[in-house]
Amino acid sequence: MLDFLGSLERTHLCGDLRSANAGQNVVLMGWVNRRRDHGNLIFLDLRDRSGIAQIVLDKELTPDGHLKGEQIRPEYVVAAVGKVRLRDADAINPKMPTGEIEIEATQLLVLNDTRLAPFSPSEEAIQNEEVRLKYRYIDLRRPEMQRNFRLRHDITLAIRESLSQQGFLEIETPILTKSTPEGARDFLVPSRVHPGEFYALPQSPQIFKQILMISGFDRYFQIARCFRDEDLRADRQLEFTQVDLEMSFPHQETVFAVVEQFLEAAFGAAGVTLPTPFPRITYDDSMRQFGSDKPDLRLPGLTDVRSAFTDAALATLQIDPALPVVAFRIPNVGELSRKEREDNHPTFDLKKGAKFIDDFKRLAKGFPEAAVKVRELAGAAEADFVIIVAGDPAHPVKASDTKFEGRLSEREINVYSAAGNFRTELAKKYAERHGAFVVTERAVQEAGVKGGTAVDGAAAFNPIWIVDFPMFEFDLAAGKWMPAHHPFTSPHEADMANLLTDPASVRANCYDLAMNGLELGSGSIRIHRKDVQQQIFQSLGISDEDARARFGFFLDALEYGTPPHGGIALGLDRIVMLLTGAPSLREVIAFPKTAKAIDLMADAPTTVTDQQLKELHIRVALKS
Ligand code: AMO
Repeated sequence: MLDFLGSLERTHLCGDLRSANAGQNVVLMGWVNRRRDHGNLIFLDLRDRSGIAQIVLDKELTPDGHLKGEQIRPEYVVAAVGKVRLRDADAINPKMPTGEIEIEATQLLVLNDTRLAPFSPSEEAIQNEEVRLKYRYIDLRRPEMQRNFRLRHDITLAIRESLSQQGFLEIETPILTKSTPEGARDFLVPSRVHPGEFYALPQSPQIFKQILMISGFDRYFQIARCFRDEDLRADRQLEFTQVDLEMSFPHQETVFAVVEQFLEAAFGAAGVTLPTPFPRITYDDSMRQFGSDKPDLRLPGLTDVRSAFTDAALATLQIDPALPVVAFRIPNVGELSRKEREDNHPTFDLKKGAKFIDDFKRLAKGFPEAAVKVRELAGAAEADFVIIVAGDPAHPVKASDTKFEGRLSEREINVYSAAGNFRTELAKKYAERHGAFVVTERAVQEAGVKGGTAVDGAAAFNPIWIVDFPMFEFDLAAGKWMPAHHPFTSPHEADMANLLTDPASVRANCYDLAMNGLELGSGSIRIHRKDVQQQIFQSLGISDEDARARFGFFLDALEYGTPPHGGIALGLDRIVMLLTGAPSLREVIAFPKTAKAIDLMADAPTTVTDQQLKELHIRVALKS
């Protein structure tokens, strides 16, 4: 019953046909999306990558085609030969790009049939993600997925073109290599020829890109696959793709300008205008204003409302007067039922040491003056919901809470980040009301993407650079200062003299790029001098021997005329996720892993044969 393709050539894509094509003879090939049998007329919606076109099988015109049409089921693969004609006025479908025309078929070839699939690609939303992932080939036929990968392609192409124009060379680095310094667990690959020895898959191309600077390539980039054995979340996969770059003789601002230019191009490819330069904020200010080092600017930030309270009020409310008192507002929440106020809000998990004071309405009863002032300071409108987060005096002060001159203490950070987490949780909870995170029909139509509008005139996509991270964190268990970033991150030149004498004051020359509450990228100016590198290893507690064993080849390379250099890596999957409005990276990676780190389609990981293990000199010791 199946036909061979023979010499038949496809002439058009289904989704490209318009009224201007009327009268043309065409050959279309694709999948049957839908079939409607009207007796002497059978209508097929034929789908390919570009869209859908309607095929008419008229019993008189093509008795053979009509006969086949009676047997055909959705997802059969067919070729239709025929002529484009304008539809009758009452049959025009304004919702379909090809809705003004149809193809009057003269011949139909059935190229393949199909087993009954567990779901149809013509379904809009399929609830069971496991089924989608197991039958990924069918899931990927869905127009939404096809759009996501078309956009991913356009974005990647725009980035490649922009970086190439900016003088960057794309150079590949090894996948089978040695441990890299990003701090997650490595995936290891046993060596057959070197019994008991292992390669590590790269967590990033970090060391190699630095070596390429030592090799004089000046500007390197790579759309690089990275591997990290970490717990998976919506925005984390075991293998993911970085837009990775490194350059010689840069200042921080040089790196920023490069990234802003390629992101402008990437977002432009998705129809979104990103104004440059992006705003910058220091780590401390980001914590104070947003309670996060990846601030979401689509909603108003935190306000210091300490001045609204008298000492007596603080005492009665059991607020720690030594810690920040911060308020935030969620716009347009309007009246809340008592149940919503009392049941839901206090269940948000605030970190130890921070406490949820109350929503404004209940505070207003006991402390009307303070309440009015809080609302004033926070700039709250009538319908805005205001929350106060403060320090809990009952929380015992620990040794790690020591306050270092000029730095936020751990307790202060706890209060700010509790407020910050609470702010984003509530913002999500009330998204329908304030509209900032809501996907609007208009945003989709105008930009061709989802992403939402924002309140107070803010844009839908909000990039921001976070700078001046502290170089060291105090490690209580070790009783000493430890670098907070990977060990090749340079301190600010101006702070170099304080490295050993006043580590608390040293700022790292590193930076993050955040957008809409997501960390998009991270980078730094690197250490290019061996003496500084050794000091950092020392402070990390990595002995000379350890450093040699882990990064020996790199330390050697550093001794052969290393130029000042720096770079950054951005998560490509995350960029595409934002621009498609997808809720998880799994929507923008063709063959992703589940949250349990399984490839449901390929059924990986699996056990291997004893013979394979033997060749690799490996014995599996499973706990019974
Ligand atoms: P970092 O480890 O911060 O920096 O990674 C850079 C960016 O990569 C993305 N990313 C991930 N995306 C998906 N799944 C993951 N598991 C995952 N982990 C990271 C994030 C992140 O911001 N070598 C340094 C960069 C440098 O210093 O130049 C590095 O890898 O978007």
